[in-house]
Amino acid sequence: MGATVIVGTQWGDEGKGKFTDLLARDMTQVVRFQGGHNAGHTIVVEGESFALQLVPSGILYPHITPVIGNGVVVDPGVLLAEVAMLQSKGVDTSTLRVSGNAHLIFPYHQSLDALHERHLGKNKLGTTKRGIGPAYADKSMRTGLRVQDVLDEKIFRAKLEVVLHQLNPVMNRVYNKLGFEIDEIVERVMTEYRPALEPMVTDAISLVHGALEGGEDILLEGAQATFLDLDHGTYPYVTSSNPTAGGACVGSGVGPRYIDRVVGVAKAYITRVGAGPFPTELFDDIGDHIVDVGHEYGTNTGRRRRPGWFDCVMMRYARRVNSLSELGITKLDVLDQLDSIKVCVGYEHDGERIDDFPYHQTVLHNVTPIYEELPGWRTDLTGITDRSELPAAAADYLTFIEEHCGMPVRLVGVGPGREQVLDFAA
Ligand code: IMP
Repeated sequence: MGATVIVGTQWGDEGKGKFTDLLARDMTQVVRFQGGHNAGHTIVVEGESFALQLVPSGILYPHITPVIGNGVVVDPGVLLAEVAMLQSKGVDTSTLRVSGNAHLIFPYHQSLDALHERHLGKNKLGTTKRGIGPAYADKSMRTGLRVQDVLDEKIFRAKLEVVLHQLNPVMNRVYNKLGFEIDEIVERVMTEYRPALEPMVTDAISLVHGALEGGEDILLEGAQATFLDLDHGTYPYVTSSNPTAGGACVGSGVGPRYIDRVVGVAKAYITRVGAGPFPTELFDDIGDHIVDVGHEYGTNTGRRRRPGWFDCVMMRYARRVNSLSELGITKLDVLDQLDSIKVCVGYEHDGERIDDFPYHQTVLHNVTPIYEELPGWRTDLTGITDRSELPAAAADYLTFIEEHCGMPVRLVGVGPGREQVLDFAA
């Protein structure tokens, strides 16, 4: 009985949705705890692909109550479009619940995100331009609007007035743009969004704790990843929330003593979208091969992801800041055709070896990875259903990761399908 947390251990897009989907089988609730529609989870069930941005992955199970927690930033238009998409594919969305304390994203957050990026020029962060940073900034400024505000037009309008009073002069004078019309936003929210949103709005704390106190198991689902964490990632090239395990507590209202398992998800290599340091980045044919075979283009934005070798220094750091109990490795099959595979086991900086992920940005930008080269397996793994069927070189690759990262690999993905997972714990 308790909570399992699932987090990304790299720079996102690790395929967390796939393992969330698997672990959700034994849970009663799946709670998203941070981020917004900057995330993109794809789950493939019986050949049908479901691209989710805001709705927790557990929605595809009738026995699950999917919960959007207080730590998430919700664009109501995107949420309702996603619900409509799921309904059109025959998925029952009536169980979906949204915390009344989750904050809202509006078009002005998206405009600010894009304008800020433009202002940064060549130093831009490469955000998804979904308004994530500005929405969390409003939350920190204590001027954000929350899901519960939608339930009362008077309160909603009064809070929005405060926001636009400050925002519109900035739009006009700093960015030379038109401001936002309060009536337009209120009208849309009250007529289009409120009726559909109202039945979903909930006291998520009572809901989640009701389950825990009743002896049920729940899953806390992270979006983005450790190295995009506002506090623990490669700041400023990060997102504006805490995708690490501590964020799971804050963003769901579940205290740490309920958490008994923390699953870190990593690709068998690494990718990154957007700007920022990346010690093991590949700029060669192997990198192109990984991008091609792994279809490494954003589900959301279509951007090409930057590829690189697996990095044990990063993973040891991720183990620490999340207190990971185990690893799930995805996309092992993407490496099937390689003759040999490199794994980063340490960094070199100024002639010295570093084994811990450097806190200092200048150091991180100037490290050289120390690699060990392992033989490839040159075998198609996509049909494998049991650990014992893995070719020796693939099994050795996983053992190498376990030894150098200090935790067991429990789940391995060998293809996009729901069934293409090896569960070592089973
Ligand atoms: P933001 O979250 O849109 O503010 O973007 C900040 C950084 O996080 C950018 O480098 C994005 O590319 C990255 N990012 C945000 N969400 C994801 C994700 O789901 N996968 C991978 N990268 C992401």
